[in-house]
Amino acid sequence: MTIDIITLHPELLVGPFDHSILKRAQNMGLFDYQLIQLRDYGLGVHKQVDDYQYGGGSGMVMMCEPLHQCISDLKSIKNYDEIIFLTPDGQQLTQNISNQLSLKGNILLVCGHYKGIDQRIRDLHITKEISIGDYVLSGGELAAAVLVDSIVRLIPGVLSDETSALSDSFQDDLLAPPVYTRPVDFNGQKVPDVLLSGHDAKIAEWRHQQSLERTKNLRPDLYKKWDKDFKT
Ligand code: ADE
Repeated sequence: MTIDIITLHPELLVGPFDHSILKRAQNMGLFDYQLIQLRDYGLGVHKQVDDYQYGGGSGMVMMCEPLHQCISDLKSIKNYDEIIFLTPDGQQLTQNISNQLSLKGNILLVCGHYKGIDQRIRDLHITKEISIGDYVLSGGELAAAVLVDSIVRLIPGVLSDETSALSDSFQDDLLAPPVYTRPVDFNGQKVPDVLLSGHDAKIAEWRHQQSLERTKNLRPDLYKKWDKDFKT
Protein backbone atom coordinates (compact mmCIF):
# COMPACT_ATOMS: atom_id res chain seq x y z
CA MET A 1 0.00 0.00 0.00
CA THR A 2 1.13 3.56 -0.63
CA ILE A 3 -0.15 6.65 1.15
CA ASP A 4 0.80 10.07 -0.23
CA ILE A 5 0.19 13.15 1.89
CA ILE A 6 -0.19 16.74 0.71
CA THR A 7 0.87 19.07 3.51
CA LEU A 8 2.32 22.47 4.36
CA HIS A 9 4.16 20.92 7.33
CA PRO A 10 5.87 17.67 6.29
CA GLU A 11 8.17 17.94 9.32
CA LEU A 12 5.18 17.15 11.57
CA LEU A 13 4.84 13.76 9.92
CA VAL A 14 8.43 12.55 9.75
CA GLY A 15 8.64 11.35 13.38
CA PRO A 16 5.52 9.16 13.48
CA PHE A 17 6.37 7.55 10.14
CA ASP A 18 9.94 6.72 11.08
CA HIS A 19 9.35 4.53 14.12
CA SER A 20 7.65 1.44 15.46
CA ILE A 21 5.02 -0.34 13.36
CA LEU A 22 4.98 2.22 10.54
CA LYS A 23 8.73 1.86 10.11
CA ARG A 24 8.53 -1.93 10.25
CA ALA A 25 5.80 -1.97 7.61
CA GLN A 26 8.10 0.05 5.32
CA ASN A 27 11.06 -2.22 6.01
CA MET A 28 8.89 -5.22 5.15
CA GLY A 29 7.91 -3.60 1.83
CA LEU A 30 4.23 -3.56 2.80
CA PHE A 31 3.83 0.22 3.04
CA ASP A 32 5.40 3.26 1.46
CA TYR A 33 4.62 6.95 1.76
CA GLN A 34 5.45 10.26 0.16
CA LEU A 35 5.12 13.73 1.65
CA ILE A 36 4.29 16.41 -0.88
CA GLN A 37 5.00 20.03 0.07
CA LEU A 38 2.00 22.09 -1.09
CA ARG A 39 4.06 25.28 -0.86
CA ASP A 40 5.95 24.15 -3.98
CA TYR A 41 2.69 24.71 -5.86
CA GLY A 42 2.08 28.16 -4.31
CA LEU A 43 1.32 31.20 -6.46
CA GLY A 44 3.74 34.01 -7.29
CA VAL A 45 7.05 34.90 -5.70
CA HIS A 46 5.62 34.41 -2.22
CA LYS A 47 4.31 30.95 -3.08
CA GLN A 48 0.88 31.91 -1.78
CA VAL A 49 -1.42 29.03 -0.86
CA ASP A 50 -4.23 30.76 1.06
CA ASP A 51 -6.44 33.83 0.78
CA TYR A 52 -9.30 35.68 2.52
CA GLN A 53 -12.71 34.06 2.37
CA TYR A 54 -15.47 35.49 0.21
CA GLY A 55 -18.36 36.82 2.26
CA GLY A 56 -16.08 37.94 5.07
CA GLY A 57 -15.20 36.21 8.31
CA SER A 58 -11.98 35.48 10.12
CA GLY A 59 -9.49 32.90 8.94
CA MET A 60 -7.84 32.17 5.63
CA VAL A 61 -8.91 29.54 3.13
CA MET A 62 -6.55 27.31 1.15
CA MET A 63 -6.82 28.31 -2.50
CA CYS A 64 -7.98 26.20 -5.43
CA GLU A 65 -5.05 26.57 -7.84
CA PRO A 66 -2.14 25.14 -5.75
CA LEU A 67 -4.24 22.21 -4.51
CA HIS A 68 -5.69 21.50 -7.93
CA GLN A 69 -2.28 21.53 -9.60
CA CYS A 70 -0.74 19.38 -6.91
CA ILE A 71 -3.54 16.79 -6.86
CA SER A 72 -3.71 16.71 -10.68
CA ASP A 73 0.06 16.11 -10.95
CA LEU A 74 -0.18 13.23 -8.48
CA LYS A 75 -3.23 11.75 -10.21
CA SER A 76 -1.39 11.82 -13.55
CA ILE A 77 1.22 9.40 -12.24
CA LYS A 78 -0.84 7.21 -9.91
CA ASN A 79 -4.39 5.90 -9.59
CA TYR A 80 -5.76 6.62 -6.13
CA ASP A 81 -8.45 4.43 -4.59
CA GLU A 82 -9.37 7.25 -2.21
CA ILE A 83 -8.49 10.93 -1.90
CA ILE A 84 -9.20 11.82 1.70
CA PHE A 85 -9.46 15.28 3.25
CA LEU A 86 -8.81 15.41 7.01
CA THR A 87 -11.33 17.83 8.48
CA PRO A 88 -13.31 18.23 11.71
CA ASP A 89 -16.57 18.23 9.72
CA GLY A 90 -15.81 14.84 8.11
CA GLN A 91 -17.16 11.39 8.93
CA GLN A 92 -15.84 10.29 12.31
CA LEU A 93 -13.04 7.71 12.05
CA THR A 94 -13.95 4.22 13.29
CA GLN A 95 -12.16 0.87 13.33
CA ASN A 96 -14.49 -0.21 10.57
CA ILE A 97 -13.32 2.62 8.28
CA SER A 98 -9.66 1.78 9.05
CA ASN A 99 -10.34 -1.90 8.25
CA GLN A 100 -11.80 -0.97 4.87
CA LEU A 101 -8.98 1.46 4.03
CA SER A 102 -6.32 -1.12 4.95
CA LEU A 103 -7.45 -3.16 1.92
CA LYS A 104 -6.81 -0.32 -0.57
CA GLY A 105 -3.77 0.03 -2.81
CA ASN A 106 -3.09 3.77 -3.06
CA ILE A 107 -4.48 6.52 -0.86
CA LEU A 108 -3.91 10.28 -1.07
CA LEU A 109 -4.43 12.40 2.04
CA VAL A 110 -4.93 16.17 1.98
CA CYS A 111 -4.09 18.10 5.15
CA GLY A 112 -5.88 21.42 5.60
CA HIS A 113 -4.87 24.48 7.57
CA TYR A 114 -6.46 27.78 8.50
CA LYS A 115 -10.25 27.66 7.88
CA GLY A 116 -9.97 24.71 5.54
CA ILE A 117 -9.82 24.30 1.78
CA ASP A 118 -11.94 25.90 -0.95
CA GLN A 119 -15.17 23.91 -1.32
CA ARG A 120 -14.58 23.49 -5.07
CA ILE A 121 -11.53 21.31 -4.40
CA ARG A 122 -13.64 19.16 -2.10
CA ASP A 123 -16.29 18.83 -4.80
CA LEU A 124 -13.78 18.14 -7.57
CA HIS A 125 -11.20 15.80 -6.05
CA ILE A 126 -12.06 14.55 -2.58
CA THR A 127 -13.67 11.10 -2.32
CA LYS A 128 -13.89 10.86 1.50
CA GLU A 129 -13.74 13.34 4.39
CA ILE A 130 -12.58 12.07 7.76
CA SER A 131 -12.49 13.59 11.25
CA ILE A 132 -10.60 11.95 14.11
CA GLY A 133 -12.91 13.45 16.73
CA ASP A 134 -15.10 16.33 17.76
CA TYR A 135 -12.33 18.83 18.43
CA VAL A 136 -10.35 21.16 16.20
CA LEU A 137 -6.63 20.65 15.56
CA SER A 138 -4.36 23.33 14.10
CA GLY A 139 -4.10 21.35 10.90
CA GLY A 140 -4.74 17.96 9.37
CA GLU A 141 -1.21 16.54 9.88
CA LEU A 142 -1.71 15.01 13.32
CA ALA A 143 -5.05 13.62 12.20
CA ALA A 144 -3.32 12.15 9.12
CA ALA A 145 -0.72 10.47 11.36
CA VAL A 146 -3.50 8.93 13.47
CA LEU A 147 -5.35 7.73 10.39
CA VAL A 148 -2.25 6.24 8.76
CA ASP A 149 -1.20 4.44 11.94
CA SER A 150 -4.65 2.92 12.39
CA ILE A 151 -4.68 1.73 8.75
CA VAL A 152 -1.13 0.42 8.34
CA ARG A 153 -1.17 -1.83 11.42
CA LEU A 154 -4.13 -3.63 9.83
CA ILE A 155 -2.36 -4.44 6.54
CA PRO A 156 -2.04 -8.25 6.52
CA GLY A 157 1.45 -9.26 7.59
CA VAL A 158 2.40 -6.00 9.31
CA LEU A 159 1.78 -7.20 12.88
CA SER A 160 3.95 -10.14 13.87
CA ASP A 161 0.99 -12.00 15.38
CA GLU A 162 -1.82 -11.38 12.91
CA THR A 163 -4.45 -12.25 15.43
CA SER A 164 -3.33 -9.42 17.69
CA ALA A 165 -5.14 -6.85 15.54
CA LEU A 166 -8.21 -9.04 15.57
CA SER A 167 -8.32 -8.91 19.37
CA ASP A 168 -7.99 -5.12 19.54
CA SER A 169 -10.72 -3.03 21.09
CA PHE A 170 -13.49 -2.19 18.59
CA GLN A 171 -12.70 -5.05 16.18
CA ASP A 172 -15.92 -6.72 17.31
CA ASP A 173 -17.57 -3.49 18.54
CA LEU A 174 -16.47 -4.24 22.12
CA LEU A 175 -13.59 -2.97 24.24
CA ALA A 176 -10.71 -5.41 24.70
CA PRO A 177 -10.50 -7.45 27.94
CA PRO A 178 -7.81 -6.73 30.58
CA VAL A 179 -4.38 -8.30 29.98
CA TYR A 180 -1.71 -9.53 32.42
CA THR A 181 1.95 -10.59 32.26
CA ARG A 182 4.54 -11.72 34.84
CA PRO A 183 4.68 -11.77 37.83
CA VAL A 184 1.64 -13.81 38.89
CA ASP A 185 1.54 -11.92 42.19
CA PHE A 186 2.36 -8.19 42.13
CA ASN A 187 2.32 -6.83 45.71
CA GLY A 188 -0.68 -9.02 46.51
CA GLN A 189 -2.55 -8.26 43.28
CA LYS A 190 -2.97 -11.62 41.55
CA VAL A 191 -3.49 -12.63 37.94
CA PRO A 192 -7.00 -14.16 37.62
CA ASP A 193 -6.80 -17.97 38.10
CA VAL A 194 -8.56 -18.74 34.84
CA LEU A 195 -5.68 -17.23 32.82
CA LEU A 196 -3.29 -19.69 34.47
CA SER A 197 -5.58 -22.68 33.94
CA GLY A 198 -4.42 -23.56 30.40
CA HIS A 199 -8.09 -24.15 29.51
CA ASP A 200 -8.51 -22.33 26.19
CA ALA A 201 -12.30 -22.40 26.04
CA LYS A 202 -12.66 -21.13 29.60
CA ILE A 203 -10.11 -18.38 28.95
CA ALA A 204 -11.95 -17.30 25.77
CA GLU A 205 -15.25 -17.20 27.65
CA TRP A 206 -13.73 -15.21 30.54
CA ARG A 207 -12.23 -12.70 28.09
CA HIS A 208 -15.54 -12.30 26.31
CA GLN A 209 -17.37 -11.68 29.60
CA GLN A 210 -14.72 -9.13 30.64
CA SER A 211 -15.10 -7.38 27.28
CA LEU A 212 -18.84 -7.19 27.74
CA GLU A 213 -18.54 -5.88 31.29
CA ARG A 214 -15.94 -3.26 30.38
CA THR A 215 -17.94 -2.07 27.41
CA LYS A 216 -21.14 -1.90 29.45
CA ASN A 217 -19.44 0.17 32.18
CA LEU A 218 -17.10 2.37 30.13
CA ARG A 219 -18.90 2.72 26.79
CA PRO A 220 -22.64 2.18 27.28
CA ASP A 221 -23.20 3.63 23.77
CA LEU A 222 -21.11 0.82 22.21
CA TYR A 223 -22.68 -1.81 24.44
CA LYS A 224 -26.18 -0.82 23.38
CA LYS A 225 -25.14 -1.17 19.75
CA TRP A 226 -23.55 -4.59 20.38
CA ASP A 227 -26.61 -5.73 22.32
CA LYS A 228 -28.86 -4.75 19.42
CA ASP A 229 -26.65 -6.08 16.58
CA PHE A 230 -25.29 -9.34 18.00
CA LYS A 231 -27.17 -10.55 21.03
CA THR A 232 -30.53 -11.33 19.45
N1 ADE B 1 -8.22 19.06 11.17
C1 ADE B 1 -8.48 19.85 12.22
N2 ADE B 1 -9.15 19.20 13.17
C2 ADE B 1 -9.36 17.93 12.71
C3 ADE B 1 -10.01 16.79 13.22
N3 ADE B 1 -10.61 16.79 14.41
N4 ADE B 1 -10.01 15.67 12.48
C4 ADE B 1 -9.42 15.66 11.27
N5 ADE B 1 -8.79 16.72 10.72
C5 ADE B 1 -8.75 17.84 11.43
